[in-house]
Amino acid sequence: MPADRILIPSEKIQRRVREMAAQIEADYPAGPIYLVSVLKGAFIFVADLARALSRPEIRIEFMAISSYGHEKTSSGQVQLTRDLDVNIEGQHVLIVEDIIDSGLTLSYLKRLLEQRKPKSLEIATLLDKPDRRVTPVEVKYVGFQIPDEFVVGYGLDFAEDYRNLGDIRVLAE
Ligand code: PRP
Repeated sequence: MPADRILIPSEKIQRRVREMAAQIEADYPAGPIYLVSVLKGAFIFVADLARALSRPEIRIEFMAISSYGHEKTSSGQVQLTRDLDVNIEGQHVLIVEDIIDSGLTLSYLKRLLEQRKPKSLEIATLLDKPDRRVTPVEVKYVGFQIPDEFVVGYGLDFAEDYRNLGDIRVLAE
């Protein structure tokens, strides 16, 4: 991996995830919270966030949405490739994402889940690239705002590589 630059080191990510979890704990009443996580990128973030939350009623559910393929930029097309297999009606639902870029994925997802009448529906994203936004999306919990650079690691990939790395890196050209 020559010359990949570390943008956010793993210790800093872990610290921020714990802060986000503390905020979430404080904001939600006792009882279940459904963490609806979007595969694949969010799998590491949701695992760390879930373990930083102390109540036992943390339900972990997965969806998959595809928009990027193997390209570096969004195709602009959002497609649901795996739906939830639980009923979220009347539940507190927190969508957990690794990154919000154009906002297309999250605005699609929010609209879709809203129709299922959850008690509340909020978004937690580890990374936010506000410069890239095409569709406005209200995001309650943001780990880090980052500049418009292509990042990998901590769940984020380039052509399926790099997801396993603990730091968030800017990919060398
Ligand atoms: C990434 C990320 C978000 C989406 C954000 O997923 O995990 O789901 O892009 O981009 P947007 O705000 O422009 O819609 P990706 O399609 O790369 O799939 P992956 O999570 O499987 O890597």
